[in-house]
Amino acid sequence: MQIGILCSGGDAPGMNACLRAIVRTAVSEGHEIVGFMDGYQGILNQDFYVGSVGANRLFMRTVSGIVKNGGTILHSSRCPEFATPEGTQKAAEILDKLGVDALIPIGGNGTLTGAHELGKVWKGQIIGCPGTIDNDLNGTDFTIGFKTAVQTAVEAVDKLRDTASSHHRMFLVELMGRHCGFITLHTAIAAGCEVACIPEAPLNVEEVVEKLEDLKKRGKTSIITVVAEGYQDGVLALQNKLKEAGCPYPMRSVVLGHLLRGGDPCPDDRILAAQTGNMAVRGILAGETDKMAGVQNNQPVLVPLEEAIQGHREVPKDLIQLLDKVSR
Ligand code: F6P
Repeated sequence: MQIGILCSGGDAPGMNACLRAIVRTAVSEGHEIVGFMDGYQGILNQDFYVGSVGANRLFMRTVSGIVKNGGTILHSSRCPEFATPEGTQKAAEILDKLGVDALIPIGGNGTLTGAHELGKVWKGQIIGCPGTIDNDLNGTDFTIGFKTAVQTAVEAVDKLRDTASSHHRMFLVELMGRHCGFITLHTAIAAGCEVACIPEAPLNVEEVVEKLEDLKKRGKTSIITVVAEGYQDGVLALQNKLKEAGCPYPMRSVVLGHLLRGGDPCPDDRILAAQTGNMAVRGILAGETDKMAGVQNNQPVLVPLEEAIQGHREVPKDLIQLLDKVSR
């Protein structure tokens, strides 16, 4: 069997570990792996990963040493052409021409939405792996890269706390996550932040100021407010609005941006990557298609792609309440 692999959308720490698990599982069962460069664009351009031996294949040793590396050896992109019906059809025809029997795309919501659409026009099997820092896919407890991104955010916030505390300031820290507040909420709890502004439980400017005044009365001399990028118009606009509304602390703003996508994956992300990569290959060999490999309660599972990509994955309400309790 010939299995195609690719990474698409925003890169996430652990994508390499996932590629490694896919290659090792499939090759040890006697199957061939072809890697497409730059996500779905690599199918349209017929651009393959070429290893040091000059072959368009990934072997056991091709993936040696990459388990610990951030980024992706296949590189990634967002591919507007693939997202059109014509582009999807063209990709299906190219995969057939190349003799690819199955495809394992690694990525987030956009990537797996593309995979589901491809499955409607291509006869090959498709099983996706959840690779995104955003944790915005259903059917898996976590996505590959999320825990590393939270770790990076917590390390940054810990450093900012030193200055916030020395200068009796409030820092507003904007964190990625697209429309989801998962990274922001987890960071807030782990780093002891006082306020989290997330799309799922939006506080308005007056409510934030009220909370800050209350915290000031309780003797808090420094504040960290983490702000999800999907909350209102971004952190700088929020800083201005808070100033106008009488924020009781001097403020500084920091946008962590793509910093959260980089760095070596943490052990949990490497393990999740190994579990889902292995599960994706096992699913394909068992004849499954139109699925995502996930992990629920530490057990690898296959869930329908349609379910994985559906709607907005809500952050747990009990974590929002927990933050409120422990940040007083
Ligand atoms: O999906 C991952 C992510 O990093 C989001 O958190 C963010 O909104 C987006 O990608 C940024 O995309 P780009 O790297 O294309 O600017």
